[in-house]
Amino acid sequence: MEKNIAVIYGTKHGATKRYAEWIAEELGAALFAGNEIRLGELQNYDCVVFGGGLYASAIVGADLVAKNPCKNLVLFTVGLGDPQTSDYSAHMSKNFPPSATQPLKVFHLRGGIDYNKLNLVHRGMMAMMKKMTVDKKKP
Ligand SMILES: Cc1cc2nc3c(=O)[nH]c(=O)nc-3n(C[C@H](O)[C@H](O)[C@H](O)COP(=O)(O)O)c2cc1C
Repeated sequence: MEKNIAVIYGTKHGATKRYAEWIAEELGAALFAGNEIRLGELQNYDCVVFGGGLYASAIVGADLVAKNPCKNLVLFTVGLGDPQTSDYSAHMSKNFPPSATQPLKVFHLRGGIDYNKLNLVHRGMMAMMKKMTVDKKKP
C-alpha cells in the first residue's frame, strides 16, 4: 500500500524549500510550507518529513511538529555548517526537548547564503557571529 507522506518546510531564504521540493518529488509526497498546513491535517499522514533552516539556535518552524503529534517524524535541518564536523546537539535539545515529538531520523544538510539579500537584522547577526568567531580564535 502507498504511504501517505507530507513534506513540510520552514525557510527564510529558500534553501530548505528547494530541498523539500526535491524530497517531495522523489517520494511522491504532498508538499507544504509550515503555514500552509492545518494542525488537524498533520495526523492524516503516515509519515511527516519536516525540514527547517538553522538560524542561531532555532530550526525555523520546528514547533509545528515538535509541539504537535505526528506519525513517523523525519527531520532535516539546513545550515551553513559542515554536517560532517558540526555539532547539532544544542539545536536538537533546544528545538526538540524531551517533551517534544521526537524525530525517528535526523539529517543535516548544507544550505547557502546570499549576503546581498540578507535583511538588516540577519546582517547584524552574521556580523556579530563573525566577531565572536574571530575573537574565539585570538590567543
Ligand atoms: C542570522 C543567521 C543565523 C544563522 N545561524 C546558523 C547556525 O546557527 N547554524 C548553521 O549551520 N547555519 C546558520 N545560518 C545559515 C542558514 O542556516 C543557511 O543560510 C540556510 O541555507 C538557511 O535556510 P533557508 O535558506 O531555508 O532559510 C544562519 C544564517 C543567518 C542569516
